Amino acid sequence: MDAIRWEGNTLYLLDQTRLPVREDWIAYTDFRAVAKAITDMVVRGAPAIGVTAAYAYCLAAMEFRDAPDFAAAMEEAERVLAASRPTAVNLFWALRRMADCLKANGGTPEAIDALIREAKAIHEEDVAMNHALGDFGAAVVPHHARILTHCNAGSLATGGYGTVLGVVRSAFSQGKVDMVYADETRPLLQGARLTAYELVKDNIPCTLITDNMAGFLMAQGKVDLVILGCDRMAANGDFANKIGTYSVAVNARYHGIPFYTALPSSTIDLSIEDGSGIPIEERPGVEVTHLAGVQTAPEQVQTWNPAFDVTPHQLLTGIITEKGVVYPPFKENLAKLFG
Ligand code: MRU
Repeated sequence: MDAIRWEGNTLYLLDQTRLPVREDWIAYTDFRAVAKAITDMVVRGAPAIGVTAAYAYCLAAMEFRDAPDFAAAMEEAERVLAASRPTAVNLFWALRRMADCLKANGGTPEAIDALIREAKAIHEEDVAMNHALGDFGAAVVPHHARILTHCNAGSLATGGYGTVLGVVRSAFSQGKVDMVYADETRPLLQGARLTAYELVKDNIPCTLITDNMAGFLMAQGKVDLVILGCDRMAANGDFANKIGTYSVAVNARYHGIPFYTALPSSTIDLSIEDGSGIPIEERPGVEVTHLAGVQTAPEQVQTWNPAFDVTPHQLLTGIITEKGVVYPPFKENLAKLFG
């Protein structure tokens, strides 16, 4: 399963706002439209946003091929793409890599072929990292595991295979997974719409719960471990992920359940010391007052809609990466592997 394709100098995105009811692919040749697609969450998930931005950078280079000031136009395109969503560091990481590639290839339109190769490399490397971390992660999954996850960190959220669902897929292929509990993940229901969709398609046992059921599920002894994704990890292991992650972490600690995040190194931001430095996106209140377009609250009510929260590293059992599973002390061990 994939959600991002580059064919004939056109970017195709599987519209994740419509899943699972419709499987619509949208074609993009304008980088501004891609930036809007990222903001509108046609594509979402930290690594997927990075891969998409890299291809969008190629679209910009093709559009500005004959611009009087190619370098200035590309800088502006980079700014537009960087403004699409603030939290997942993969976006900025991928854009930096593309800008470096442009520079290394003379900074002129002659670099376009190299840019396309670089975007494809970012895409392929992401899939490879997910397979590697999937295998490392499978080693921490016990037999007959019942795994709880939150949001969607699957194929749809990455270049392919998935981070959390990469671990699940690898562990399932080893016969270790009895059940995956998917939190529905309000307000935009990535768990219900996307994680359940991926798992059902792959015939991996999945039970959908609403977010507020997770604590009681744990209290009943039905969760052996929690694995969820990450949008940006600071140098000390604090990490931002989909809103609700922090509550799951607190619940897991109370119930003595191992709690892991799975991420590729492109999600680690060693320039930020701790979680307080991670920018948290706030999204429109309509996502809270409405459910799937249907109004469920008075129009005049005030809302607060942070898209992510920050979980302190003290609540983490381990960090599953493509280079292995990192255990405390996280600051030292992250620096050793990724510094
Ligand atoms: O708002 P979203 O859907 O982009 O949030 C996605 C998440 O929080 C994922 O857990 C994270 O990006 C990791 S995806 C491999």
